[in-house]
Amino acid sequence: MQSFMSRIVLLVSCLILGASLGCGGGPVSEDAEEGARAEPIGEYMRDHFEQVRGVQLGVIRGDLRAVRAAAKWVATHDALEGMPQGWEPYVVQMRGAAEEAAAASDIASAAAATATMGRACAACHEAMQRYPRFLDVAQPPEAYETVLHMMGHMWAADRMWKGLVTPSAVSWNNGVAALAVDPLDEESFAPATDHVGELGVLAARVHDLAAQGRGVAEMDARAEIDGQFLATCAECHQLLGVSGEQ
Ligand code: HEC
Ligand code: HEC
Repeated sequence: MQSFMSRIVLLVSCLILGASLGCGGGPVSEDAEEGARAEPIGEYMRDHFEQVRGVQLGVIRGDLRAVRAAAKWVATHDALEGMPQGWEPYVVQMRGAAEEAAAASDIASAAAATATMGRACAACHEAMQRYPRFLDVAQPPEAYETVLHMMGHMWAADRMWKGLVTPSAVSWNNGVAALAVDPLDEESFAPATDHVGELGVLAARVHDLAAQGRGVAEMDARAEIDGQFLATCAECHQLLGVSGEQ
């Protein structure tokens, strides 16, 4: 359990950020070369992507302190210099949601604000007709050992997130489809906790919410589902005491 934090950090750097920002060998050199030539807006976006991902991962872990730190960065980071005027409302939306996440006193409202932030990213990309592209790692195989099952969850959460912020129907639908498998049964948690029944309900809810998300194209509806989905990850991690809040 203690290794939860370090393992999630490893997952973040390789499975998640690595998918878009480069991890290990593969995409790094390409990205670095492109980065040198890219307009500052690309860099600005990558920084935001990273921080907002920090907010999202804080939520997943059930760690409000981590949520606050990353959300504050987004809420207070200087606007891009020379930003076209049409962008203003989207940046205001994004920061407003970040402020809400930073001020949240419970994980459910932090999760909802995080999804609203993702929704604001998507709104601007749509308005500007500029859609980020992400390199993605292969989907982990279906598995019922807890950690491997969680890697599947993380992959799915990541795809759904990209589906939300890009926005991309392909990413979103791949993410929710990855959860069309059986949940862990409550016995998987038996040695670890007194809350076995509750955990079984939460385990099933993750998959139910994904099923509700199937084919959902409307962005507000995606954000609503993603918020509830992230909150469910958090609830279980908090119950188990694997969040950073202990
Ligand atoms: C105000 C408008 C606006 C908002 C808000 C916005 N984006 Fe972007 N984003 C853009 C534009 C325009 C581009 C294309 C930049 C380019 O092609 O150089 C972009 C590109 C990106 C890229 C690709 C960057 C690269 O070149 O590698 C990522 C990743 C990204 N955005 C993530 C996000 C995330 C995450 C959020 C929300 C926290 C967000 N964006 C919010 C306008 C916005
Ligand atoms: C019903 C309970 C439950 C739910 C719901 C749940 N998890 Fe977990 N999660 C666990 C347990 C138990 C562990 C600790 C596994 C271990 O270290 O043995 C864990 C650990 C993790 C880890 C760290 C894995 C590692 O390498 O140790 C990640 C990442 C993770 N969960 C992601 C998610 C995501 C994303 C969701 C929501 C889509 C989610 N989890 C929902 C129970 C849950």
